[in-house]
Amino acid sequence: MEPLTAHPTDALSGSLRAPGDKSISHRSLMIAGLAVGESRIEGLLEGEDVLRTAAAMRVLGSEIERAADGRWHVWGRGPGGLREPASVLDLGNSGTGARLLMGLLASHPLTAVMTGDRSLRARPMARVAEPLERMGARVIAREGGYMPLTMVGSADPLPISYELPVPSAQVKSAVLLAGLNAPGTTTVTERAPTRDHTERMLSHFGAQIEISAAADGRRSISLAGQPELGARHIEVAADPSSAAFAAVAALILPGSRLRLEGVGNNPLRTGLYATLAEMGAAIAFENRREQCGEPVADLLVESAELQGVEVPADRAPSMIDEYPILAVAAACARGRTVMRGLGELRVKESDRLAALAHGLAACGVEVEEGPDSLTVEGRGVRPPGGATVAAQLDHRIAMAFLVLGLAAERPVTVDDAGPIATSYPAFQTQISGLDARFSAPGTCS
Ligand code: S3P
Repeated sequence: MEPLTAHPTDALSGSLRAPGDKSISHRSLMIAGLAVGESRIEGLLEGEDVLRTAAAMRVLGSEIERAADGRWHVWGRGPGGLREPASVLDLGNSGTGARLLMGLLASHPLTAVMTGDRSLRARPMARVAEPLERMGARVIAREGGYMPLTMVGSADPLPISYELPVPSAQVKSAVLLAGLNAPGTTTVTERAPTRDHTERMLSHFGAQIEISAAADGRRSISLAGQPELGARHIEVAADPSSAAFAAVAALILPGSRLRLEGVGNNPLRTGLYATLAEMGAAIAFENRREQCGEPVADLLVESAELQGVEVPADRAPSMIDEYPILAVAAACARGRTVMRGLGELRVKESDRLAALAHGLAACGVEVEEGPDSLTVEGRGVRPPGGATVAAQLDHRIAMAFLVLGLAAERPVTVDDAGPIATSYPAFQTQISGLDARFSAPGTCS
């Protein structure tokens, strides 16, 4: 356990580049690992989750080399070219790494044993196993569909048409990645659009992807199987989910002014920024550009007096990882914020609905947890703080409560800041560089 305390801070100023996007980083290693030739990646997130994916892809036969900070070279094996792993694949804390890899493995004739940490071993894998078994794989998991599990991939994978029962980019991506090595067309239909980094990156590497949107909002993604994937250059955008912590800190600490550089601005990831605008934030998106098929912008954030809002349930897929930090913004805003459609938060790295409700209450914030909703009453002043909050092996819970500690009347401690290294190893250094104050027990702030 690595406890860390955030101390009340006046204002943040300066600029930072948040680490590489976690979703894009995982996908770049996996898809480059299936392309033919040498792909070069810049801005790769060197967090524990992504390093686990790199290690797994190496065991599966891709050659992967770290050239410098964030600069990686990958020599792929071509679709269908992965080899049977000689050791257990341990994905640590990473649901994305685990579920996307299950997809890759499903359509290779090999057997692989997969596991993860205590958090990952409690997360549902049946949602991925189910479509992959339809494609011909066998998934032998613990009772209830939990890891550790064994994937027995198919030598003759079938392309399928699959409608997602839950809005999950991970399940969608697992099916599409499995479809890479199946003859014919694999189609995934989603009722509500989820992040489309897999589709964008597969197109970038030369796969044929077709997307059609129905009048009722359904979106179908079709992939032509067994494509030739050519090596590519990838520049990973800064992660909007990581940038969100500094952005919200700057909004709620009066007098702050912050520039966030090169942040991914994919419209399927920007729900938080739309919500913050409705709460009264003035965030300027400057220098909009495209980077390897992904939109990117620089963000200029100034502190603002935020108002509570109702966040519609259908916005959840575009801000699914941002509810912890939105709840912190809501605790500092004036009025009631109601967030609905949050059932999926119960199966993230922790039960985030429960973790947020307990942590906010411990910090003196009025909060109500529903089965799939969260209501936060803000007073428009610094919340009391003065508590120790359980991070529950969840990086985003840890970072959100540390931001709350900067904006509270009294310090907030998270019992274990270790999980932050899964997605944002430089969190403390970068935010301290903007004049925020943190301390580990036994040190001076
Ligand atoms: C991710 C998808 C989301 C998100 C996760 C990253 C991805 O999970 O919460 O952090 O990279 O595809 P779900 O697919 O479970 O919604």
